[in-house]
Amino acid sequence: MRLSFVAASMVRYGFWRSLLMESMRIDVLCLFPETFDSPLNQSIIKRAREQGLVNIVIHDIRDYTHDKHHTVDDYPYGGGPGMVLKPEPIFEAAEAIKQQLGGSEMPIILLTPQGRLFSQAVAQELALHPQLMLICGHYEGLDERVCEHLATDEISIGDYVLSGGELAALVVVDAIVRLVPGVLGSQDSASNDSHSNGLLEYPQYTRPHVYQGWSIPAVLLSGNHGEIAQWRRRQAILRTAKRRPDLMEEGNICDEEKKWMLENL
Ligand code: 6GU
Repeated sequence: MRLSFVAASMVRYGFWRSLLMESMRIDVLCLFPETFDSPLNQSIIKRAREQGLVNIVIHDIRDYTHDKHHTVDDYPYGGGPGMVLKPEPIFEAAEAIKQQLGGSEMPIILLTPQGRLFSQAVAQELALHPQLMLICGHYEGLDERVCEHLATDEISIGDYVLSGGELAALVVVDAIVRLVPGVLGSQDSASNDSHSNGLLEYPQYTRPHVYQGWSIPAVLLSGNHGEIAQWRRRQAILRTAKRRPDLMEEGNICDEEKKWMLENL
C-alpha cells in the first residue's frame, strides 16, 4: 500500500483526526432528538463530524426520568395554563454528561426566547470553547431553578417564539461549527461572510456573464484585483447602509468610505 494512500486515509477518517487534533464537543439535551437527525447529517456539519473536527452528541431528557411514564413536565405552582419542564431529569442529564466528560467545566447554555440575542459575535465567542452543553426548553416553560442553578448562559435566536429550543439549538450549532478551524475549505470563506466584519456581504456573480440580457458589473471581468476589492468593499458598505442601517453605527468604515457612501446612497 502506498504511503500517500495511508496518509490520505488518515486525514479522511475522523478517528485518526480526532487523535491528532483538538476537536470540539457539543452535547445537546432535548425532548425531540429526532429533530437533529437530518440537519446534522448534511453538508458542512456532516463533513465536519466525519472528519472528527466536531463531536455532536444528542441526549433525550426523557432517558433521565425514573417513573413508569417517563414524565418530563408537571403543572405550574400557582396555577395557570400549560405545563412546566421538571428540573430533576435536566439536572441529572447534565450531571451524567459532565461526569462522562471527566467533570470538566463548560458553558451550559439554555435555549430560550428570554436569553441574550444570538449573533455572529456570540457564535465566535462560543466557538472558542472545546466543550459546550446546550439545553432545549419545550412546552410552555421550564423550572426556573434550571436557569438559576444549572445554566451558565441563556440564548435566544430572535424576537419570535418557537415551539421548542431544538430548532434554535440547530441554528446555534451550525453557526458555531462552521467557525471551527478546518471546517470550511479556506478560512477566507468564514471571514468574508455577512456580519463577520460588521457589514453585509457584497454581491456575487457566476457564469454566464450575460443572462437574459442582464450583465454582471464590468469591473468583475477587468482582472484588476485592487479595483475588484474596492468595488466589493463599497458594495458591502452601500448594501449595509441601505438594508441594515442599524449595523452602520459600529464604526467599520473610514472617512473616505463614508463620503463615497453618502454620495451614492
Ligand atoms: Cl432559543 N427557543 C424558543 N422556544 N423560541 C425562541 C428561541 C429559543 N429563540 C427565539 N425564539
